[in-house]
Amino acid sequence: MKTGVDIKPATGKLGILTPGMGAVSTTFIAGCIAVNKGIGKPIGSLTQMGSIRLGKRTENRSPLVKDFVPLADMNDLVFGGWDIFEDNVYEAALNAGVLQKDLLDQMKDELSAIKPMKAVFDPAYVKKLNGTWVKKGKNKMDLAEQLREDIRNFKASNKLDRLVIVWCGSTEVFMQASDVHSTVESFEKAMRENDPAIAPSMIYAYAAMKEGVPFANGAPNLTVDLPAIQQLAKENKLPISGKDFKTGQTFMKTLLAPGFKARLLGLSGWFSTNILGNRDGEVLDDPDAFKTKEVSKLGVLEYILQPKVYPDLYKELYHKVRINYYPPRGDNKEGWDNIDIFGWLNYPMQIKVDFLCRDSILAAPLVLDLALFSDLAMRAGMYGIQEWLSFYYKSPMVAKELYPEHDIFIQLMKLKNTLRHLKGEDLITHLGLEYYD
Ligand SMILES: NC(=O)c1ccc[n+]([C@@H]2O[C@H](COP(=O)([O-])OP(=O)(O)OC[C@H]3O[C@@H](n4cnc5c(N)ncnc54)[C@H](O)[C@@H]3O)[C@@H](O)[C@H]2O)c1
Repeated sequence: MKTGVDIKPATGKLGILTPGMGAVSTTFIAGCIAVNKGIGKPIGSLTQMGSIRLGKRTENRSPLVKDFVPLADMNDLVFGGWDIFEDNVYEAALNAGVLQKDLLDQMKDELSAIKPMKAVFDPAYVKKLNGTWVKKGKNKMDLAEQLREDIRNFKASNKLDRLVIVWCGSTEVFMQASDVHSTVESFEKAMRENDPAIAPSMIYAYAAMKEGVPFANGAPNLTVDLPAIQQLAKENKLPISGKDFKTGQTFMKTLLAPGFKARLLGLSGWFSTNILGNRDGEVLDDPDAFKTKEVSKLGVLEYILQPKVYPDLYKELYHKVRINYYPPRGDNKEGWDNIDIFGWLNYPMQIKVDFLCRDSILAAPLVLDLALFSDLAMRAGMYGIQEWLSFYYKSPMVAKELYPEHDIFIQLMKLKNTLRHLKGEDLITHLGLEYYD
């Protein structure tokens, strides 16, 4: 008899709040509405389109993920969020220029009805932006109280059963954790004293933790990486995860690098450059914001390739990442990679990748999956850092003494094995010992 974890059912409505209602958030919201209206398919979403093998291959059991674990139904989702611009989701989606006007017009009423709440924002943390739809408060604790009130009001007025928050706001300037962030007490004191070490994204995370709402972090900001926030997540039994959606170039990197390592091919250089012209690109044009992104992007290869274990293959690797703001391309990013590899007897070879991708088209299904899985985790009693969601992130959060897993195939196995575990199914090890005696 298989026994899984006791998971509360996904009854009623689930609210998904996104701080930041720009390109990613509006593409996500419009996409979900399009799917519910039957005018689009949720391509790229593991929760909607993925299947999961159960038991032995001879058993032929491969249900859809959404039929296997009790996820919120896409028809039960309610969307909201905050932004520093007052535009409703229809206007913001048009502005973002990701989805075509024809498509958006088919959902104009629903999208226009979703209006952002006033943001907690300070241009000192996102230097290239300045908006007017911003809360005022006597200190950062007061701003957190206002966000908490927004969350409570949104839940009550939409008659929601549960909520999750997925950060889809801009990348903030590079910051490092300090003593201020080490305990809930020091964090709260710093909020009351308007300490510059408390960035806006942290105020949202704090409000979420106090209101009992799981939080997923789509940007490379520190936000839920802080001990104070993690302490609150544990105390209030809330799932948190991050950080930075793994979409274009880093997605490619985590596909290719494990392959080179699997075949023990060496790497001497990996040069990555991008052009993108959306608002995210504009924000990342500021060196302080780019630094936050750069740290998130650079860690990937080091962890996958393990140069200390394979010094002959990876010790000399030169890895460089560049992002260039180039307005004509809008959200349609182009990412080039030049990869210098070497094989048998050190003979060099080159690989060129030119990925003409659409950033928000790649990110939108990740927002959906993270929201639904964070809600599942909450109902299954899982709390703290959700390492099994590393699959979705460039810079996965892990417990203090561990290193992050970046190999996308190991990440996927971990995710699916977590679902199997929740339902009391055997974990799949891919062990085959038929002719062993
Ligand atoms: N698109 C991708 O593939 C991808 C991948 C990884 C990470 N990300 C990250 O996701 C985030 C969103 O990307 P995007 O393309 O939608 O950017 P965007 O600039 O279109 O949207 C971000 C929105 O956040 C708003 N904002 C900024 N600070 C805010 C605050 N404090 N409170 C509320 N709103 C705030 C901005 O006004 C803007 O509308 C960025 O941080 C980006 O780096 C995106």
